[in-house]
Amino acid sequence: MPRRIHVLPDALANQIAAGEVVERPASVVKELVENALDAAATQIDIRIRNGGKTEIRVADDGCGMGRDDALLCFDRHATSKIAAAGDLNSVRTLGFRGEALPSIASVSRLTLETAEQGGVGTRVRVAAGRILGAEDCARQRGTSVTVRNLFLNVPARAKFMRSMAVETRAAMDAVQSLALAHLSTAFRVESNGRVLLDLPAAADLVSRAAALWGDDTAARFTAVAFESADATVAGLVERPDAALTGPRRVHLFLMGRPIRDRELVWAADRAYRTTVPHGARPSLLLYLGVPEGDVDVNVHPTKAEVRFRERIKVEAAVELAIREALGRVESAATLDRPAAPPVAPQIRLPGVPQPTPLPIDQLAFFVPAAHPADSAAGAATANVPADGAAETRPQTRLWQIHDMYILAETRSGLLIIDQHSAHERVLFQQLMRAFGNGGENSQRLLFPITLRLSASEYAVVESLTPLFDRAGFEIEPFGGRTVIVHSAPNPHPYFNPERCLREMVAELAAGSELTRAAHNQHERIAMTFACKGAIKAGQHLSHREIGELFEQLFATDLPYHDVHGRPTIVRLSLDELERRFGRHG
Ligand SMILES: Nc1ncnc2c1ncn2[C@@H]1O[C@H](COP(=O)(O)OP(=O)(O)OP(=O)(O)O)[C@@H](O)[C@H]1O
Ligand SMILES: [Mg+2]
Repeated sequence: MPRRIHVLPDALANQIAAGEVVERPASVVKELVENALDAAATQIDIRIRNGGKTEIRVADDGCGMGRDDALLCFDRHATSKIAAAGDLNSVRTLGFRGEALPSIASVSRLTLETAEQGGVGTRVRVAAGRILGAEDCARQRGTSVTVRNLFLNVPARAKFMRSMAVETRAAMDAVQSLALAHLSTAFRVESNGRVLLDLPAAADLVSRAAALWGDDTAARFTAVAFESADATVAGLVERPDAALTGPRRVHLFLMGRPIRDRELVWAADRAYRTTVPHGARPSLLLYLGVPEGDVDVNVHPTKAEVRFRERIKVEAAVELAIREALGRVESAATLDRPAAPPVAPQIRLPGVPQPTPLPIDQLAFFVPAAHPADSAAGAATANVPADGAAETRPQTRLWQIHDMYILAETRSGLLIIDQHSAHERVLFQQLMRAFGNGGENSQRLLFPITLRLSASEYAVVESLTPLFDRAGFEIEPFGGRTVIVHSAPNPHPYFNPERCLREMVAELAAGSELTRAAHNQHERIAMTFACKGAIKAGQHLSHREIGELFEQLFATDLPYHDVHGRPTIVRLSLDELERRFGRHG
């Protein structure tokens, strides 16, 4: 019987692999820059013409290759990065499949120039997968790869390339993403002779973010640093008060490798619950690490996706990490200028090669003048005087101004607290906790309240009666659309149960912005209760009440944000005061 199966010639096999690896010019840029990074380059120069459709050139000052390797690298499965199957578990390089160069070379005209330290340079030219020859060339240590006429022999692919602007954008995105994971490497991108990006080696992530997007954007972030047995999560996430509804920047890295993972982004978004308004899309730069063997990085041809052994645990770590960070962050607009950089540079990003540390005196410049934990810790242990006669020396002195704000003296300066916002956060947290342990305390009303409701309001009350009950509102139908309220919670002495309940029901029935930000009915009730039941602006408070509110606020997980995603606190540091009064530089 004649054989029907045959092995494909190498050139064809490479072209098929290229179908997966080389989707568009940006994929070539990504693969070549990854190779340069794997070669430990400190400076990478990227030049593209016509969005990369006409020409892509990536030059590096990495380790380079000798003549034999320069030829071998175009063989399929030729790699210097792994040798045995076990290596896949611990691979630290970006590449390992040994197919990028042969794939790219099979669908373009490619020139490679490379030299090792002190060696002679080699130039290899390849056209549509065929090696045309190798010759000596003059070159310093490093490698440059020039790719012309991409998809010259794959007309179907060529047709799918988009406009120059779109392809340029995609190439830039690929470089940006790698630049965020390789801080100590300098990157330069030129498009049609114009410099689009010029990134010096960065001392820390904040500096790199600032070099990419400007100081203002970098100042919108706060640092994440979390470690558990399951995962390490570090990086920068947008402060809740800075998060907008427009486009967001999301960069996820696993062991220094950019990955896509929708579910991890969802986990991050869950962490923002009740700190941002409905529809806000905070930007994220997250660097994950997991123990060796807990992840399979070889499940996707361009390695953009990975498979976690225990995905749930990684998602939980991401959520917890961000939640913790938001609990520390001063969402507040600080009155200090310039805005303190969000993070000390020493934050360890898993898998990201750390730049050599700067000398200590330079570091001091980057460290925020007053660490958020400083003021929070001072406040939490605050010993607040009870109605005038303070026996012990109070650590935190408090005042109410305009019946609206509370001023607190801290070790590093002054906090200005919005009493309504602060109490909102306190009530939200109290009620959510009460839902978990059987319900809020309530008081029997001396005079039951009768409420006449609209049809939609009645429907809300009817469907949520058990939850209202656990929130402390004992509600009973009274015929028609009327209900009677027998008991109500008593969160503070100025609380008006009728008004609170009416406003809650109206919000819930209208499906307001606030109720849409909640993720379930419990949160919906707790958020509306917090918003409507909290101490109002304009309410005069006794000294004791001020102290209680202050302590309760700092006992919550998220003292710096109210449930609308607005700040509860504005900080003014002593440094800033001294600066303004001209006491120092
Ligand atoms: N810029 C470079 N500097 C030094 N060596 C390089 C460079 N580019 C490629 N090489 C060498 O050529 C080999 C083949 O590169 P190629 O990109 O095809 O495969 P890889 O990086 O090993 O794996 P992957 O296909 O996953 O990218 C590399 O393993 C490396 O040894
Ligand atoms: Mg590679």
